Amino acid sequence: MPGPSSLISVSNKFTFVLRAVKMPELTVTSEIYGEYNYNTKITPLIEGNVISEFPFLLPKNYHKPQYDDDEDLDIERPKKEVIKIEHSSKTKLALVGLQVWRGAFLIGDLLIYLGVKGALKEKTILELGAGTGLTSFIAGIYAKKVICTDINLGGILDLIKLNTKYNEKLIKAEFRVDALDFTNMAWSQQLSKDIRDTDIIIAADVVYDDDVTAAFVATVQKILNTNSPKTLYMALEKRYVFTIEHMDSVAPCYETFLSLLDKVKNGSNWTVEQMTLDFPEYFTYDRVKELVLWKISSA
Ligand SMILES: C[S@@+](CC[C@H](N)C(=O)[O-])C[C@H]1O[C@@H](n2cnc3c(N)ncnc32)[C@H](O)[C@@H]1O
Repeated sequence: MPGPSSLISVSNKFTFVLRAVKMPELTVTSEIYGEYNYNTKITPLIEGNVISEFPFLLPKNYHKPQYDDDEDLDIERPKKEVIKIEHSSKTKLALVGLQVWRGAFLIGDLLIYLGVKGALKEKTILELGAGTGLTSFIAGIYAKKVICTDINLGGILDLIKLNTKYNEKLIKAEFRVDALDFTNMAWSQQLSKDIRDTDIIIAADVVYDDDVTAAFVATVQKILNTNSPKTLYMALEKRYVFTIEHMDSVAPCYETFLSLLDKVKNGSNWTVEQMTLDFPEYFTYDRVKELVLWKISSA
C-alpha cells in the first residue's frame, strides 16, 4: 500500500520518508502511547493486542439548562468516562488502522462539543478510515445513526466490531460497521443508501500517504456530491521532514492534500474552511500545533 512518498512519524521529533524502493517495511507506533499512560491490565481477546482506556469528560447537554427546586441554574460537573479500546501498539504502515492516532481525539473533542450543543441530534454520521472505531463511538453518543467504515484489511472491521461491544453502554445511535475502501467506489446498495442519508462525514488522520490521500479526496468528492447536503470534518497531523531539496522542513503529505483539495473544490459548490481549535479538550492528549481541522460543506 505505501506509495512513492509515504510518511509516518515514529515520535514527535522524527519523521521518516518511506520510498517505494526495495527496503524493509518499517514498523510504526502511534505517538500518543508515549505521552500519557492509557495502559490497563485487561487481557485482550486477540493475541498480541493491548487494551487501553482513554479517559474523557462528558458534559451534560448545556443547550437544555436544568434548574433546581429554587429555580437556580443547576450546573453539573462533566462526567468522567472512558473508552475501552483493544488495539495494536505497533504495526506495519499498511495496518496503521489497528492503532489509535491523535486525530481521533481531536474529532472526538469536536463531536462532544457539537453534541452538547444539540448539533448532532437526529444526524447520520459516516466515518471514513475509522481505525479502531474510537471516534465513531463518540459520534454514537449523540447521533441518530453512525456508519463506521474502513478498508477490509488485516482484521480491522472485526476489531471495530469487538471495540463496539466493549463500548456498547456509551453508544446510543444505531451503529453499523461496513467496508469502504477509498480505491473502490463501487459501493454496495446498502452503503450507497447510507451515504445518501449521511449528514456529517468524519475522518481522522487519513492523510499520511500520497496514494491513500488521492483516493480519499476522490471518495470525499463523490460523497459530498451525493445529495443531500453534507459536511465533512477531517483532522490531520502535519508531519514534517527536512529535505535537501527545500533545505527546510516541509510537510509533503499535507501539501499533497492541499493541492488535491484545491483541484476538486474548483467548480464545486463547496464551502471550505480550516477551523480554529477553540473548543474544549475533553480527551486527555497533547493537542499539538501540527494538528489541523478542516470543514468542507456541500450546498
Ligand atoms: C492513521 S490511521 C487513522 C485511524 C483512525 N482514524 C485514528 O485516527 O485513530 C489511517 C486509517 O486510514 C485507513 N485507510 C488506509 N487506506 C484506506 C483505504 N484505501 N480505504 C479506506 N481506509 C483506508 C486505515 O485503515 C486507517 O484506519
